[in-house]
Amino acid sequence: MSTLPWYEDVSPGAGALPPRAWYARSDAASLSLGGTWRFRLSPTADSEDESFAAEGYDCGSWGEITVPGHWVLQGKDRGAPAYTNVRYPFPVDPPRVPTENPTGDHLRRFDLPDGWPETGDAVLRFDGVESAARVWLNGEELGTFKGSRLPHEFAVGPLLKRRGNVLALRVHQWSSGSYLEDQDQWWLPGVFRDVTLLHRPEGAARDFFVHASYDHTSATGTLRVECDVPGRVIVPELGIDTATGTGVTVRVEPWSAERPRLYEGELSAGGERIPLRIGFRTVCVEDGVIKVNGRRILFRGVNRHEFHPETGRAVDLATMRRDVELMKRHNINAVRTSHYPPHPAFLDLCDAYGLWVVDECDLETHGFEELDWRANPVDDARWTPALLDRAERMVERDKNHPSVIMWSLGNECGTGAGLTAMAAWIRDRDPLRLVHYEGDRSCADTDVYSRMYPPHAEVEVIGRREDDGPAARRELPFVLCEYGHAMGNGPGGLAEYQRLFERYERCQGGFVWEWIDHGLVHPRYGHAYGGDFGEELHDGNFVCDGLLFPDRTPSPGLVEYKKVIEPVRIEAGTAAGSVRVTNLHDAVDLSAVSFVWSYLVDGESVGSGPLAVPELAAGESAEVRLPAPPEDEREGERTWTVRALLAGDTAWAPGGHEIAWGQLPVSGPLRAVEASGVRPLVEGRRITLGPAVFDARTGEPVALGGISLTGLRLDVWRAPTDNDHGAAWQPDERHGLLWRELGLHRMRHRVDAVETDGEAMTVRTRVAPAARDVGLRTVYRWTSDGTRVGLKVSVTPEGEWRLPLPRLGVRLGLPAAWDRVAWFGGGPGEAYPDTRAAARLGRWRATVDELQTPYLRPQENGARIGTRWVELGDGGGRLRVEGDPVFWFTARRWTSELLDAADHLADLVPGDTVWLNLDHAQHGIGSQSCGPGVLPEHRLHAAPATFSFTFAPLAGESG
Ligand code: GAL
Repeated sequence: MSTLPWYEDVSPGAGALPPRAWYARSDAASLSLGGTWRFRLSPTADSEDESFAAEGYDCGSWGEITVPGHWVLQGKDRGAPAYTNVRYPFPVDPPRVPTENPTGDHLRRFDLPDGWPETGDAVLRFDGVESAARVWLNGEELGTFKGSRLPHEFAVGPLLKRRGNVLALRVHQWSSGSYLEDQDQWWLPGVFRDVTLLHRPEGAARDFFVHASYDHTSATGTLRVECDVPGRVIVPELGIDTATGTGVTVRVEPWSAERPRLYEGELSAGGERIPLRIGFRTVCVEDGVIKVNGRRILFRGVNRHEFHPETGRAVDLATMRRDVELMKRHNINAVRTSHYPPHPAFLDLCDAYGLWVVDECDLETHGFEELDWRANPVDDARWTPALLDRAERMVERDKNHPSVIMWSLGNECGTGAGLTAMAAWIRDRDPLRLVHYEGDRSCADTDVYSRMYPPHAEVEVIGRREDDGPAARRELPFVLCEYGHAMGNGPGGLAEYQRLFERYERCQGGFVWEWIDHGLVHPRYGHAYGGDFGEELHDGNFVCDGLLFPDRTPSPGLVEYKKVIEPVRIEAGTAAGSVRVTNLHDAVDLSAVSFVWSYLVDGESVGSGPLAVPELAAGESAEVRLPAPPEDEREGERTWTVRALLAGDTAWAPGGHEIAWGQLPVSGPLRAVEASGVRPLVEGRRITLGPAVFDARTGEPVALGGISLTGLRLDVWRAPTDNDHGAAWQPDERHGLLWRELGLHRMRHRVDAVETDGEAMTVRTRVAPAARDVGLRTVYRWTSDGTRVGLKVSVTPEGEWRLPLPRLGVRLGLPAAWDRVAWFGGGPGEAYPDTRAAARLGRWRATVDELQTPYLRPQENGARIGTRWVELGDGGGRLRVEGDPVFWFTARRWTSELLDAADHLADLVPGDTVWLNLDHAQHGIGSQSCGPGVLPEHRLHAAPATFSFTFAPLAGESG
């Protein structure tokens, strides 16, 4: 029998040192080996021999590569990224991998810096290499390793030379480890995290474990640092100066995501001083609830993959910091490091800025699900050493971070004894943190019941602890490790989830899937998704399902999430002229928050000032009187806005940053005055009605006060969103497809009559899809008062409509120059029935181009909700539209049909028309690209409807 090459056997590798705690900096010398390396790519694992590792090898013909970096992202002829969600991109024959196994040889020469100590040892550390590597230093083989997103160190002291060291690395894209790394993301081989040479002074600590607990009953913290060599621990601020291994109890402030209090300390052992950043906190499950420092916490979380649109999973520190700042600014308090331990520096940022972390092991075997989990590595004892190696490398590396409160065994691996072995090892090594794994419904190995994408109704049942399943599971706290699939437009239904999390103590929140779209920079498409690099097997734009666009611009989904999870709730009080303020923080009071009010008349502020709110403790609520409203004679809709702001600067946002807001209507929208009184005049093929001219055959307006108009008619179609389409495995209501099957994207408009009388012009039509017997009787009734025209649309469905409608409204075209938009209504961003929490009433302006939301795969977007009026101007004049009732509008330079046909943003080419949709209603968005569909209350059923608009051509720019 032939033995397998090392990269194909199930072992985790050989020769690496045992794992240990990671820390950024000690006073021991270190040398970063990042930068330009020499590089050679081969098509198979052994198409070149290993002579390159020898000293004196001439690599003059090789190319160059930047380390950290993935070779597929560094130039032509280096292969290409490939995206699959669940399926392995190679035959499933574990642990074997294909002969076509792109192999990158990396070479780096280095000298030791001046002053590098003569004594002691040294280790070479690799923080992340995908997927397997063999390492040589100065011609000597150090060993091999797998476990792409985990650190590996090798002892190299005796091999080091002052000058001319040669570090050689052979990296295989595929290895047995690839079977354990089937996460839903791009396959990106290479040395994508730092490579560092670390001096190890004689007698220095190999490893240390900081235990810093908090007892909320006595407000004390206990610190004990375990270390494999004797040493001392000092924490000057707390007056601690003690031997390692000794526990010290002192009064402290606890660490929490809301107030991440860290104490600077130092561990000195064997001539090395290691800085410590100590956060005291205790996490436990008590009465079926996760508590930290004695209090229930609620995860307002996100799943974060490491991603940068140019460098893939090689993410620089500034980008990591940007992620953390953006999270904090959007009220996010927790991160699940889906689905592997992140760059270790990211966890330092979580400690410093305050984020609860679920640290997940680099383990996913999802591709076996399609094979009924046959040969699943987590259920095959031969793989257990590799699994344990991964668990150990994660826990040992990250154990000193106060932010990490849960270890996750991995993602989507099915079930098996390997997972149990990992959990047992973790519990033994670190009994003071919780263990998470979603894939085993028995929860035999976990401290929490975790699910992904359950519908709201099921969350409610679980919240009541009335769910079926093992009785012991009902005692566990419940988290949604994934929910709110942020693919394209959406996710819808977040606010409804949040209400459940607030109502049921057991429901401790969740982690939206996911933080950022993984769109890779592409010369033709702008940002690429699956298939754009010519992959044979791929999962399309399912890799773009984040709250951030690839360039880290927040999407409307993130703005919505920020509002839904705001830590202060502001709503109408029971007494008139009062507001109820609730502190929804887990632990802190409102002393760091200030409040301001403003009073709006027709969306414009006519007065504002500070509002005194008591420093409510976490969970408390109070009713606060608003001041007397400012005097303002104008007739108009009146609204209070109350905003909660950061009182002072924080590490993540300046003072004044808004964390929450609420609006309290005082009076409702004014009803538009009817435009009537003028007779329609029929002149041959034209009908004139006040400022409007119509085509007498179609009844469509062709001009309004000199503005030419085209194609005004009923519109029910929207370019299906990713959530409308639903993922292939979704059982029902994949509306995007059903709508198309019904023909809603190609409605026919039959004109039955164009009638005039003394008051109005009436156009009777039937709007219906070809080949179907359903239809919408639609009557347009036009009137005018001489300067304005009124349109009343009445829609009566005929036949049996089994599907909701995408939208219901009218669409019309204006010349391309009419692209300056001002409106009074919800804004500033887009909103749909179930994504509307963040839309606030006000006066807003944007250009048509700015109204577009650039979802990577083009789809319906940009609707503005609750519009009282909208004006489109060309700089000289404007068309004003008022609605009764309030309405939605979208304006774009292409039709919904062109939007629907586009695969990438680059396919959208502006035409000579601005298309304006004025919608009476929209169907909700839901989360069906991976999760529940639109909740019943947000569905748009075909039902009789009447709605009106008034159109007025006006001079000058919008005021
Ligand atoms: C989950 C999985 C994630 C991602 C998501 C859909 O099943 O854990 O990695 O694939 O679905 O985007």
